Amino acid sequence: MTTIQDHWLTLADGNKMPQEGLGTYKLTDQAAMTQALQGAYETGYRLIDTAQLYENETVLGNAIKSLGAPRDQYFITTKVAEKNQGYQTAIDSVKESLKKLQLDYVDLLLVHWPIQSHFFETWRAFEDMKKQGLTKSIGVSNFGIAHLELLTTQANERPVVNQVERHPGLNQLALLNYHRNHGIITQAWSPLARGKYQDTPVLKAIAEHHHKSVAQVILRWHLQDGVAIIPKSSHLERIQANADLYDFELSNAEMNQINQLNRFARTGREPELVFENNEQYQR
Ligand SMILES: NC(=O)c1ccc[n+]([C@@H]2O[C@H](COP(=O)([O-])OP(=O)(O)OC[C@H]3O[C@@H](n4cnc5c(N)ncnc54)[C@H](OP(=O)(O)O)[C@@H]3O)[C@@H](O)[C@H]2O)c1
Repeated sequence: MTTIQDHWLTLADGNKMPQEGLGTYKLTDQAAMTQALQGAYETGYRLIDTAQLYENETVLGNAIKSLGAPRDQYFITTKVAEKNQGYQTAIDSVKESLKKLQLDYVDLLLVHWPIQSHFFETWRAFEDMKKQGLTKSIGVSNFGIAHLELLTTQANERPVVNQVERHPGLNQLALLNYHRNHGIITQAWSPLARGKYQDTPVLKAIAEHHHKSVAQVILRWHLQDGVAIIPKSSHLERIQANADLYDFELSNAEMNQINQLNRFARTGREPELVFENNEQYQR
């Protein structure tokens, strides 16, 4: 039987990334972060997802330090916030992030949202930061197909990951297909839709059939689609349960049943609006 630690994806730049990791949005308390990271690491998680916007890079840095694991044994992702986009501001902000994380480099650096005002210069900064060794890989988040196509007109390197909202209510099949054809790994944020589909009858029936929970069925659906996942929990039992996905398989019929729950139900911002307004939250 395989475990969470056996499942790595190869990115288009040749680097490897764990298919499953731990999300940390809203984990800002030091004791809670240290405990979550310790529990996750012992469970076999090797990827931790943070962002400048989450304001938890400092507590994550302290938690990583107290873990005491060798640097090549964990994979850290952070994201540049809209307010820090632009060529030099992006570079300065990543240096600040690294200071907070107490690291020399991150494994994956993402543009958190596409914004038109600094679209190309931010990416140029990302390409240069990769060359300078501040990050091993570069990618984006919340980009639609049009943003990815636009980026290609001036980029030297393509993003290797696009981290987007994905769950049964928003299966993103068209975007997944585009990613597959262009060597981009899809990483799902809110893979559990923050618990929204716990009582969905179709999911409950599939879960019962496999003697698993609804959350485990949803996470397994992502994995079987080749999607990377970063479920967040601050509770050890859930951190463990969310990694207990590697001893069962959904049939094609079950995968289709889940795909049919799609309602284009976005919980986050519409990327087009963020692109147009240059910020996620309008004043
Ligand atoms: N790129 C972006 O724009 C973006 C946007 C949003 C999020 N993200 C990233 O994606 C990560 C995951 O997304 P998310 O935190 O929004 O949502 P999520 O992972 O879908 O759901 C997390 C919520 O579900 C609960 N939960 C976790 N496991 C559960 C289980 N097995 N059964 C029942 N409830 C469970 C957690 O509660 P407890 O903690 O109380 O267990 C938490 O409230 C974030 O933490 C962040 O790192 C990125």
